[in-house]
Amino acid sequence: MPNGKGGTAIRNSATFAPPASATDYAIVVRDLSRTYGEGITAVIALRKAGFRASPGKLVAITGRSGSGKTTLLNLIGGLDTPTSGTILLGGRDISRLTERERTFLRRRQVAFIFQAFALMPTLSALENVVLALHIAGFPARARGPRAREVLELVGLGKRLDHRPYEMSGGEQERAAIARALATSAPLILADEPTGELDTATGHEIIELLSNLAHDQGVTVLVATHDPAMVAAADHTFSMIDGVLSAVEGRDIRATEP
Ligand SMILES: Nc1ncnc2c1ncn2[C@@H]1O[C@H](COP(=O)(O)OP(=O)(O)O)[C@@H](O)[C@H]1O
Ligand SMILES: [Mg+2]
Repeated sequence: MPNGKGGTAIRNSATFAPPASATDYAIVVRDLSRTYGEGITAVIALRKAGFRASPGKLVAITGRSGSGKTTLLNLIGGLDTPTSGTILLGGRDISRLTERERTFLRRRQVAFIFQAFALMPTLSALENVVLALHIAGFPARARGPRAREVLELVGLGKRLDHRPYEMSGGEQERAAIARALATSAPLILADEPTGELDTATGHEIIELLSNLAHDQGVTVLVATHDPAMVAAADHTFSMIDGVLSAVEGRDIRATEP
């Protein structure tokens, strides 16, 4: 298994084969910088960030609005390219991929849970997950069973045919998590996943993400303001004006040795 943990149904080793030189880390970020714009209007959103995350860990990145959390997640997920620096996922350098390679990365190796869930409003929970599998290139016959499997895993077995407006905020979040899980990506990036939820529902989502990391071996990287999420995380980093530093943690450091 790519993440060294578990051989459970949710994993799919075919999706991620680290090269022989792979480190044992799911994520290695070195000297990562991102500047938006040029000249006097330039915004340095990320300044030489560095950290490492082991497989099967829940890692939190905290920081005020505008501190650079989303910028970091977007770079790691291949939605954006760095101004300088390196990102290794499972030992593979993804910082300078072609557009085509980045598209493949986004489809199969990284899954996003966006702040606003980004579910298709006219599609049911089941159809939303099936669509993600379709986009990721899963064979047609496998999509329905796989979508049911992950929706049941997140506790939505009885909401398969509900559209987003027929679900609570927590249920929509679960649907978004199911969609992220469906393609068996070894890495899940979640941008403020409990930001819109009440405390009790937030706790359920934290437990779900924590279980995914610890039981399924998925690496979960979360940008969050939520102290309860930080409390559940294995490692926490804080971001202040684009500068990342470790808050705690033994096997992850703020800077590469
Ligand atoms: N596409 C963009 N163009 C210009 N500036 C941006 C862009 N995206 C983010 N920024 C700026 O970069 C900084 C970090 O933003 P962001 O990563 O979204 O922070 P956070 O997620 O912590 O709220 C902010 O000052 C923001 O205004
Ligand atoms: Mg953000």
